[in-house]
Order: sequence, then C-alpha cells, then structure tokens
Amino acid sequence: MKTIALVTQKGGAGKSTLASSLAVAALEAGERVCLIDMDPQATLTVWGKTRAEADLPVVAASPAKLPAVLKTLADKGVTMAFIDTPGAEGAASSAAMAAAQLCVIPSRPTAFDLWASANTRKALKDMRGDYVFVLNQCPPAQQSARVEEGMAALEAMGGLLSPLVLARVDYQEAARRGWGVTEFNPHGAAAGEMRALWASLKKRLAKGAKPAKKAA
Ligand SMILES: Nc1ncnc2c1ncn2[C@@H]1O[C@H](COP(=O)(O)OP(=O)(O)O)[C@@H](O)[C@H]1O
Ligand SMILES: [Mg+2]
Repeated sequence: MKTIALVTQKGGAGKSTLASSLAVAALEAGERVCLIDMDPQATLTVWGKTRAEADLPVVAASPAKLPAVLKTLADKGVTMAFIDTPGAEGAASSAAMAAAQLCVIPSRPTAFDLWASANTRKALKDMRGDYVFVLNQCPPAQQSARVEEGMAALEAMGGLLSPLVLARVDYQEAARRGWGVTEFNPHGAAAGEMRALWASLKKRLAKGAKPAKKAA
C-alpha cells in the first residue's frame, strides 16, 4: 500500500479538496482507496457521509493510532491511502508526515501560502520526508506573473507536480455532494486536471518516494 499525506500548515490551501478528488480519481483508475481523516474539523468524514456510495471509506485516525490504522488497511488490501491533516503544525501532521511515502503540499499562488509552504518543507526536510508541491486555486489566466512566481518558488523548493490546479466551481460543487470532480462533471476541465494530477502523482510515487523516517 502507498500512503500519501496532504500537508501544509496553511488552512484553506486545498488539502481536503485535493485529497477527496485525488482519492476518487485514483479509485476510478483502479486503485483500492481509503481516506484517512486526521483533522478535528472532520471535513472528509462529513464528505464521506454525504457520499452515497460505500466505495471509498473514510477513516478517522488520531496520531497515536495512525500506524495501526495503516497496517489494518494494508492487510485489507487497500492499495492507496490518502491522509488529510489539520491546517496547523502538531502531532497529527507530524504523524502523517512520518507515515507517508510522499507528502503533497498544496499552495495557493500567494505570498502567505508560499511562506507557509517553506515552513512545511522545513519540517519535512528535518524528518527526511519526501515531498512535492501542488499549486492550487490558480486564477484562470494561467500565465499571470503571480502564478509564474509561485511556480518558480515551488520548483526551487523541491518540485512542483503538474498540472496547475485552477480555481473552479466544480471543486466546490463536487465537495458538497460527497463526490470527486471526476464524478461531478466527468468531461469538465477540473476532471481532466484531477486525472492528470493523479497520473503525475503516481509517476512521482513510482520514481523515488523513500520511506520517511519515524517522527521523534
Ligand atoms: N481548485 C479549487 N477551486 C475552487 N475552490 C477550491 C479549490 N481548492 C479548494 N477550494 C475551496 O477552498 C476552500 C479551502 O479548501 P480546503 O480543501 O478546505 O482547504 P484545507 O483543507 O487545506 O483547509 C474550500 O472552500 C474549497 O472548496
Ligand atoms: Mg481541510
């Protein structure tokens, strides 16, 4: 089983949105997927209850229980686990960072988000965790100077997954129904974006994700 954690201390960057839509994209691509909700706000737990299908379990886990939860899922034949974390540094995000093969750090193309990303990267570097950035909620005119600056900053900090994820209402509409964007509007631009993001994430996982060191 592969484990991906969505982490960044910045609230609103898109951890829960990307975790849910990536999980659905992975499911559609043939993975056996489970979402692990470590956020006390329980965003994905509510999302999972709203979802009518039982095809994508959402499991809540405390930092202490995370390793046991992951082992149980692996034993059950789950191939892909996505961990959603709170928007603050603490035991939950440390446990997720330590357990994941790869951490995905979503960031909006704004200075405040990029600064927060640098802090998250530092925490991951200290733990020798493998990580990659995703630029989320980009304005529709992709090549604005602000987006280009964000791309350059994240590339310099260790790598940016492609494609850029744009700000699109499909993400919000899908979320409130308990769906991923690929289910909400399968032929829409957001759906294409999420399938492409899942494909590059999978490639990135295969390429060189190393097991992260255990947290102290
Ligand atoms: N690509 C996107 N396009 C439009 N809205 C988005 C996008 N990504 C996130 N959002 C919205 O931004 C808000 C914060 O996203 P969320 O996933 O809850 O962030 P986090 O979990 O990091 O706090 C939510 O209201 C969500 O619907
Ligand atoms: Mg969240």
